[in-house]
Amino acid sequence: MVSFGAQVEFALPHIKIRDLNKYYDVQGRQVHALKNIQLDIPKGKIFGIIGKSGAGKSSLIRTLNGLESISSGSIHIHEQNLAELNHQDLIGLRQRIGMIFQHFNLMSAKTVWGNVALPLKIAGVAHEQIKARVDEALSLVGLSDKAEHYPSQLSGGQKQRVGIARALVHHPEILLCDEATSALDPESTSVVLGLLKEINQKLGLTIVLITHEMQVIREICDEVVVIDGGEIVEAGQVWRVFSRPQQAITQELLSLEQLDLPFALHSSPYQDDTHRILKLRYEASSQQAPDLTQIFAAFSQPVQLLQSHIDHIQGHLIGAMLIAVEGTHININQLKQQLQPHVAAVEELGYARPTY
Ligand SMILES: Nc1ncnc2c1ncn2[C@@H]1O[C@H](COP(=O)(O)OP(=O)(O)OP(=O)(O)O)[C@@H](O)[C@H]1O
Ligand SMILES: [Mg+2]
Repeated sequence: MVSFGAQVEFALPHIKIRDLNKYYDVQGRQVHALKNIQLDIPKGKIFGIIGKSGAGKSSLIRTLNGLESISSGSIHIHEQNLAELNHQDLIGLRQRIGMIFQHFNLMSAKTVWGNVALPLKIAGVAHEQIKARVDEALSLVGLSDKAEHYPSQLSGGQKQRVGIARALVHHPEILLCDEATSALDPESTSVVLGLLKEINQKLGLTIVLITHEMQVIREICDEVVVIDGGEIVEAGQVWRVFSRPQQAITQELLSLEQLDLPFALHSSPYQDDTHRILKLRYEASSQQAPDLTQIFAAFSQPVQLLQSHIDHIQGHLIGAMLIAVEGTHININQLKQQLQPHVAAVEELGYARPTY
């Protein structure tokens, strides 16, 4: 009987990155892809790394299993310095770190079973053990009945589940996911994210996941870092980063700034502007939803609700609302003071005449 559980008992994956820099040489020109990265990834958590295209996400995740060399700095995995590993050690390390990819990277000429068995065959594992581990991994991802199918006979979500099974056959301590759901429709995305969460909880695996989609972070990550231009610009527990995004890039990734207002917004009042447009962010524990009457009691003038949304993340309610407050000369500082106990932040977006 092969047990994932027994394997993780003594495994203490913990990734520590210090002063990490990565340069690529592109036709004699240096691209500084990762800049002074400092990162601690705790054991047993689902850790998200988010950033726009070209931010350096893949470069960062690929350094963790030595697929990408580093230019300076250090990476320790479970107290083991990657730079000090010889070739044999590196092979051993890669078995402790599974990886799944955006485009699954399955071999089309092999069956599901053959794809999952491949890493074990390459490692020279005995046939009996291969059978036990492949059957176990396929059962874990719910694909035992598809063992004899070929990848072309599977949906995208099923292919990724095969990718996950293949990544788990060496009983890794860490699972790296590079845009694992980016090629999937929303339903398959949910299934794959649910499976990753289940694996994390069942096996105690540390999962490092990179994505450009906040939705992915929201659904399963415990902690998140935002990477922009090769630098970490924001970090923290997911609910905190979502409720109080500090950087413009984070707000952009959260789509909070993508306002689709049916009227023009001005930075200073135009002659016919009638309202101040404000964004209020609020946060509360799930047991204690924000009291909107308290928020609106701060206003002595009419207020229109333009947009609003609320998220439930890690036991917190996180919301934002966009409002139009009548009058362009209201005392905004006084208003902010009155709102302060009830909202997390007040942002002034500008002036407008809301018309529909
Ligand atoms: N092998 C390479 N050779 C040269 N430059 C590279 C290489 N890989 C990445 N880069 C450059 O390094 C920077 C970071 O790229 P990286 O692939 O890590 O970004 P990313 O955040 O994963 O983007 P995406 O979301 O598009 O996958 C980019 O400027 C990219 O052009
Ligand atoms: Mg990438």
